[in-house]
Amino acid sequence: MKRDNFGSKFGVLAAAAGSAVGLGNIWKFPYVTGKNGGGAFLLLYIACVALMGIPVMIAEFSLGRKTQANAVDAYKKLQGKGPWYLAGILAVITPFIILSFYSIIAGWVLSYVVGSATGKVVNISTGELGNYFTQVTSGVYTPMFWTFLVIVITAAIVIAGVQSGLEKYSKILMPALFVILVVLMIRSVTLKGSSQGLEFLFKPDFSKLTGTSVLEALGQAFYSLSLGMGIIITYGSYIKKDENLISLSAQVAITDTLVAILSGIVIFPAVFAYGLEPNSGPALIFITLPTVFHSMPFGSFFATLFFTLVAIAAITSTISLLEVSVAFITEKFKINRKVATIIIAFGTFLLSIPSSLSFGPWAEVTIFGKNIFDALDFLASNIFLPLGGIFVTLFVGYVWGINNAMVEITNEGAIKFNLKKLFTFVIKILAPIAIFLILLFSTGIIK
Ligand code: PHE
Repeated sequence: MKRDNFGSKFGVLAAAAGSAVGLGNIWKFPYVTGKNGGGAFLLLYIACVALMGIPVMIAEFSLGRKTQANAVDAYKKLQGKGPWYLAGILAVITPFIILSFYSIIAGWVLSYVVGSATGKVVNISTGELGNYFTQVTSGVYTPMFWTFLVIVITAAIVIAGVQSGLEKYSKILMPALFVILVVLMIRSVTLKGSSQGLEFLFKPDFSKLTGTSVLEALGQAFYSLSLGMGIIITYGSYIKKDENLISLSAQVAITDTLVAILSGIVIFPAVFAYGLEPNSGPALIFITLPTVFHSMPFGSFFATLFFTLVAIAAITSTISLLEVSVAFITEKFKINRKVATIIIAFGTFLLSIPSSLSFGPWAEVTIFGKNIFDALDFLASNIFLPLGGIFVTLFVGYVWGINNAMVEITNEGAIKFNLKKLFTFVIKILAPIAIFLILLFSTGIIK
């Protein structure tokens, strides 16, 4: 079977950046930054992205492109005698699990797009916004419907293929995302009293940085760049041999970081301008921001624009999450893309049901003291993802081998790679150790 691939440079960038830019950028990054000392954390985050994020991304892209295979076969083809394919299986399972709960949040977002466009979100009194959010999330069928819709949209794009699905839609959606981001940013910083928000985000307060801030920054960088879970490996397998993986990785990282920072400039100036608290968790975008839109002229318009932005960011990520298992299943069982996608999408929806119910009727059902949604999130994001990151760096560093990887990365010597020594050090030593520390930190073993 001939493998599909990305058709253009811009297409690869849009698709990979589309995966990277997601809820993690718009919703989590701004808050984590504010909480950890603003500008000080930002510098730390940028250092993590540059020093670890980009090298690991280069390693994952090269592994995929070398093997021209899904994440499991990528390991298998180069593993020699070891059981490394198990790392590949983990790299397929993790995005499958993440997709099941990421789609729920994306579903809330879609419901808010419609709620904003029809004026519902802005017309109720601000005191009711909390209830409105509870209504959206805690029912049985309504949230499931929106989750289902997200999965259907995602599946429809994935069925269309790599070039006429993932690439084509990313090329439209990512520029749209930027335009919306800039419009909202201008609106936010021109509000009276917005400068306090900029201070919250940027003013460096080094006293708030702790040892764990470093791990938090690193963890956020990995999640935000979609590393450690087969996505970049799979996307790498669709990239042409003459593409420059080094500059591509740098461009993806820069785009991702830029969107995270711009999102902060959209959110906090507006929140502070209206005298609200920059709280964390779902409340920030689903309750606090609607309160802002409520008081703003043309609030419905800006609310619709904002939630459309978040929806775009989410959908360009969900398609990458789904693609990993679709690539695996089609190649493993030799079934066609459409059938594979429908089966996996259906499986994802089934897995999403218990998580969705955990915001409503099943709120009391707990596993290790967490509700089902939180438990799955914890398992995938805090355990599987770092494990995947450790495996991929060790694999490229020691099993496939840096020298072999280097041949792929430099397009057989056609590209100069000046930082080869640094890259080798990061992949073989620094990244595995640092990610291991993230694992200890995110599982609560070190505090
Ligand atoms: N990188 C995405 C974000 O920042 C999330 C994501 C994680 C997407 C893992 C795909 C895989 O939200």
